[in-house]
Amino acid sequence: MLSENISRDPDGTLRFAGHSVTELAARYGTPLYLFDEERIRANCRMYKEAFRKHFGPGSLPLYASKAASFKEMYRIMADEGMGVDAVSAGEIHTALAAGFPAERIMFHGDGKTDEDIIYALEAGVGRFVVDNPEELEILNREALKRGMKQDVLLRITPGIDPHTYAEVNTGSVDVKFGMPILTGQAADFVRAALNCPGIGLKGYHIHVGSQVFDEDVFERAADVMTDFIAEMRDRFGYAAEEMNFGGGYGVRYVDSDPPVDIPARIGEVAARLKSDMKKAGLSSLRVFMEPGRSIVADAGMTVYTVSTVKHIPGFKNYVTTDGGMTDNPRFCLYRARYTVLHGSRETAEKDRFDLVGRCCESGDILQKNVSLPADIRRGDIVCVCTTGAYNYSMASNYNRLGRPPVVMLTKDGSRIAVRRETAEDLCALDV
Ligand SMILES: Cc1ncc(COP(=O)(O)O)c(C=O)c1O
Repeated sequence: MLSENISRDPDGTLRFAGHSVTELAARYGTPLYLFDEERIRANCRMYKEAFRKHFGPGSLPLYASKAASFKEMYRIMADEGMGVDAVSAGEIHTALAAGFPAERIMFHGDGKTDEDIIYALEAGVGRFVVDNPEELEILNREALKRGMKQDVLLRITPGIDPHTYAEVNTGSVDVKFGMPILTGQAADFVRAALNCPGIGLKGYHIHVGSQVFDEDVFERAADVMTDFIAEMRDRFGYAAEEMNFGGGYGVRYVDSDPPVDIPARIGEVAARLKSDMKKAGLSSLRVFMEPGRSIVADAGMTVYTVSTVKHIPGFKNYVTTDGGMTDNPRFCLYRARYTVLHGSRETAEKDRFDLVGRCCESGDILQKNVSLPADIRRGDIVCVCTTGAYNYSMASNYNRLGRPPVVMLTKDGSRIAVRRETAEDLCALDV
């Protein structure tokens, strides 16, 4: 199976985190998001342990909460001693409402509004990751008004192509995030920050891209950023204390995706950083990383009920589900690949189908050309694997479909973390 938490009984029943998906479907209804809590916690502990082993004191992995943001997730992150990366006042509010400590939140985003900035400042978030000079100016102004000095990292664009698919490549030069080194704008940004009395410049942040499998991406980033840190020290007398390398380690969506040995990779990055820093005459650095996908993706599965099976002889077969692009827009957005499994049987006779959703949109496709039992029929359960990241958090109400509930699975049982959205919820904001 694609990951250890997926298995199939001899009678064909599919299990996720030890639970029968058909039983869960009967109990909670479909579509349904499942999360394997033990897997989330194990992934956090893997990062925490690798950080403890390889990076200096004060270094911390931060969960990129855009991957899946709801209160129960922030409670797990608080419990596991993680930091979190938040991109909006909404994510910060959810984290705080769950009791997550404000000082372990880093506030990101290239389009923060004045209201966002004031909200996060007053909430006491640990760091702003400042994206651009306009944001710097407003943050400085608002911090001074309140007699505060806000700790920040500056978002720098290192110009590294991580060789991942273009839609999630944010490290090259011509991207909307951060200020590029290549054009000299990053150096100007540092100079500006050093001249702001309301800003406590702690260091830099980069994010080179997502679904990174290439071995040396973070090492190349370490080379570029150590050079940059040394250059800023030489030009402005400012040596950064902190460096955030962003997120990005790849996960297995399909059997052909290679597994990434994250602790080993972190060890390699740490070794490279250490040698780069030694060469540049730099002393210690607190290191942060912001994994999202590699914390929650393989902890997730989405369960659907088949509503229609359509054969168009000589052309195509469709399996239509009771969900679709509203609960998982990733195929529509960037042709994301997924593994699809039948919930209750594995027959020898298979056929090829496009797995589609119920939305009034021809592009509402969950996955093309998947292999499923040839006799699949209405009422059957189908599951899409590895949906823990960027599914619930990207869900919409297109066609006024309510978002599915999120159910947390543990060894001992299951519990609702987010309830199903009802027709009343959908009208709640209408006047
Ligand atoms: C700034 C930043 N940090 C962290 C992440 C998380 O990346 P991933 O989920 O691939 O680990 C992203 C994803 O887009 C990001 O933009």
